[in-house]
Amino acid sequence: AEEPLVLGIETSCDETGVGVVRGHTLLADAVASSVDAHARYGGVVPEIASRAHLEAMIPTVERALKEAGVAASDLDGVAVTAGPGLAGALLVGVSAAKAYAYALGKPLYGVNHLASHICVDQLEHGPLPEPTMALLVSGGHSSLLLAPDITSDVRPLGATIDDAAGEAFDKIARVLHLGFPGGPVIDRYAREGDRDAIAFPRGLTGPRDAPYDFSFSGLKTAVARWIEARRNAGEEVPVADVAASFQEAVADVLTRKAVRACRDEGVDHLMIGGGVAANSRLRALAEERCAAAGITLRVPRPKLCTDNGAMVAALGAEMIARGRPASGWDLPADSSLPV
Ligand code: KG4
Ligand code: ZN
Repeated sequence: AEEPLVLGIETSCDETGVGVVRGHTLLADAVASSVDAHARYGGVVPEIASRAHLEAMIPTVERALKEAGVAASDLDGVAVTAGPGLAGALLVGVSAAKAYAYALGKPLYGVNHLASHICVDQLEHGPLPEPTMALLVSGGHSSLLLAPDITSDVRPLGATIDDAAGEAFDKIARVLHLGFPGGPVIDRYAREGDRDAIAFPRGLTGPRDAPYDFSFSGLKTAVARWIEARRNAGEEVPVADVAASFQEAVADVLTRKAVRACRDEGVDHLMIGGGVAANSRLRALAEERCAAAGITLRVPRPKLCTDNGAMVAALGAEMIARGRPASGWDLPADSSLPV
């Protein structure tokens, strides 16, 4: 049978993502971001994000279909992020997906945002082995997930108990006056710095701590205090060393716990997704530790790691390929949708 041709719509946060895939093949990945509109607030403002989705939606769908070179009438289905995410932002995407699917007479597939962050790797590296272990790290989530079946069985093993990893990058960048989003700029400064310069704390790594949960708020406070002490003493803040040492603390904990989860669960594949997966030190350390543990590491290219519509289409295509039921026209947007 022909591989399913699917349009995917993602609006859980600040990117209006529309992708088109055929099975495991990426045909289009159009993204309109409202990130600049949020920059002056130092974080995503939900109301601004929702309005930006409303404006960008139809032009982005048209751009994706044109880029893919396919007619909407040839689609086998329309997939959309049903949650988790910002409630108002999700409503825009779900409403648009229903309208397209209904008008075109195609089935609608509501998908989970976290599962689609995992599934997107099929567009990069082909079929995902099952089970796969996934470390999802972004501005909104930091989770370790075990996926025996990407379309119907994704189990959360652990998550952050406070800040998400990307949020920690953004907050430290703000303390250092480096702008928003903070991840890419900290990554850049860290290349010039010494990652062993300052010993920042590794949250939740004690013998009695939850083995797969994360905590970054203590780290954030420790880094902010360290910077403040320097400033109060009238000393210059060594930005590159702070960036490198902070980044090392995050990458160390994330990779240590992910590899441990693989070992405990007997899983030999680890995928890393979400915006923070673009981090160069996280990638390098993950490669090093996975190689040492005999684990195959899968990390999609950065553009597929950040929020996009292709990941939603990828999961929709997988659902169609496996004969999973379509969603009803009453599909809700659920801001706290569990995997
Ligand atoms: O997945 P994403 O685009 O959006 C969500 O938050 O869902 O992730 C954005 C996050 C931001 O916090 C940003 O600072 C972080 O990913 N990020 C990075 C890097 N590039 C983006 N963090 C660390 N290193 C990077 N190179
Ligand atoms: Zn995301």
